[in-house]
Amino acid sequence: MAQTATRTKAAMLEIEDLHVEVEGKEILKGIDLAVRQGEVHALMGPNGSGKSTLAQVLMGRTSYTITQGTVRFRGEDITKWTADKRAQQGLFLAFQYPTEIPGVSVVNFLRSAFKAAKGEQISALAFRKRLKEKMNLLGVEDQMVNRFLDETDSGLDIDSLKAVATGIQQLIGPDLGVLLITHYQRILNYITPDRIHVMMDGKIVLSGGPELAHELEQKGYEGLRKDLGLEESPAERSGVPR
Ligand SMILES: Nc1ncnc2c1ncn2[C@@H]1O[C@H](COP(=O)(O)OP(=O)(O)OP(=O)(O)O)[C@@H](O)[C@H]1O
Ligand SMILES: [Mg+2]
Repeated sequence: MAQTATRTKAAMLEIEDLHVEVEGKEILKGIDLAVRQGEVHALMGPNGSGKSTLAQVLMGRTSYTITQGTVRFRGEDITKWTADKRAQQGLFLAFQYPTEIPGVSVVNFLRSAFKAAKGEQISALAFRKRLKEKMNLLGVEDQMVNRFLDETDSGLDIDSLKAVATGIQQLIGPDLGVLLITHYQRILNYITPDRIHVMMDGKIVLSGGPELAHELEQKGYEGLRKDLGLEESPAERSGVPR
């Protein structure tokens, strides 16, 4: 019965044959990926393989052109939707390096985002109360939301990595699916994804269960590339992290 339930569960995010160009150059060359409700999928790949491009395209960044394929979210084709409409419907791109906005505190930023997404007014006090509940759930310290968005941190230490992993695990449920994009497998020591996909040169070249992370750790992307008989693309060779 459990298996039947899994199979019939709706795909929250469905990417089909997605081709994307940036400045006339094809970066994504036919991506197929489906994340169901309650699932965590990890997307891994070497520098320059197209991971960040996919994240940007999913959120609707306009400088990326979809030349073929579709993105569906909760059953609706969102390929032509603007970024704010996607956000309102519940698609959320978490960022590791928040943009620096001097004078904008995290709490004000979150309250504005909440009002825009939900279309409802909420007093500063009521919002703080709600936020506090969620922060307790995730183990985020009080001082965090009073910080300004120009105090970003480079990278995550092990404790922060654990906190992120725990947060994802607590949030995951019938209403949420997660696509976790990462270059390194270390966060997968703290969160076990349902599926792992490896992207190379704009394509998903391998998908598998959580054990794939360990295989990758041993072989590296180079070893996997050799196994699969693939060539390193110029973009991957010169890859600058974005
Ligand atoms: N805005 C852009 N303009 C021009 N080229 C771009 C742009 N964004 C991405 N690219 C190119 O697309 C390719 C894929 O880049 P992308 O940043 O998506 O890779 P990535 O997998 O996220 O790499 P990393 O692990 O280094 O973050 C690279 O060749 C990159 O130079
Ligand atoms: Mg990237």
